[in-house]
Amino acid sequence: MQQEEPAHLLDDLPLGEVRFFSELPSTNTSALEWLSQKPVEYSLLVADRQTAGHGRFHRAWHAAAGASLSFSLILYPSPIEQDVLALFSALAALAVTQALESFHPSTAVQIKWPNDVLLDGKKCCGVLCEATWQADSLGGLVIGIGVNVGRRSRPLVQDLLFPAACLQDALDPPPQRREVLHAILQNLIELREIFPSPLFLSQWQERLAFLNQAVTISNGDQKTEGVFTGTAANGDLLLRQKNGRQLVFPLGDVSLRPLDSGMK
Ligand code: ATP
Ligand code: BTN
Repeated sequence: MQQEEPAHLLDDLPLGEVRFFSELPSTNTSALEWLSQKPVEYSLLVADRQTAGHGRFHRAWHAAAGASLSFSLILYPSPIEQDVLALFSALAALAVTQALESFHPSTAVQIKWPNDVLLDGKKCCGVLCEATWQADSLGGLVIGIGVNVGRRSRPLVQDLLFPAACLQDALDPPPQRREVLHAILQNLIELREIFPSPLFLSQWQERLAFLNQAVTISNGDQKTEGVFTGTAANGDLLLRQKNGRQLVFPLGDVSLRPLDSGMK
């Protein structure tokens, strides 16, 4: 998406200001800076290429010109939403999943708890939500979404902690990045109307991968094995250990992997 990308393609959506760039270090970093100027809600930053895209713990996110969809959306969560701030990443993952379902009706699209979108079991999208704070008061929220669309968006296998896919693997030719962007934004704005209701949670939960399967939950070097039995009403992960003990892992810093997958 070049800087001159026609913004009118998003005209039917209730967005704030929309900015397209041919290259940015990271759309999230720019959106967090933009937040200090208090842009209107649903202001959007899109980059054709990111040179320092990142996920959690500053792990690198690979994004290639012409092939990756990289964008960040600005929101001002209500007090009720602020009580479940961590669930915004689930909202984003569900919006992406429903968008992909509309393009790939016969392909298995799932969510690796809490927010990685998998296509045929491989990661094709990552979500990173970041907020700004003034003391205890929330300044705003940035939802950053990266989707692998064309083949060049898929990183080299040795660079990965989990196998990756792109939309072109499942659909050739893949949908245009701007179509994917439109569908995700539309879903996200619509889903926010039922966020964070039980209806929203059930739509997210029914798409979770590895349910009732043996998994490993990693928190840094600490690894816990068990069966992924579901999620609590607030989205926390429930794990049943061999001894029958039920553990609860909050949305946040832990990672889920299928057991014995050989993945880090
Ligand atoms: P985890 O996989 O441990 O649950 P995560 O999915 O939240 O964590 P981050 O901790 O945000 O991921 O780190 C990003 C990870 O995504 C990198 O470690 C890298 O392995 C992987 N990655 C980077 N670029 C891509 C891409 N374009 N497609 C798929 N995976 C990628
Ligand atoms: C993950 O790996 O799970 C998170 C990756 C998030 C990548 C997106 S791309 C748009 C935005 N800008 C960034 O630097 N990160 C997010």
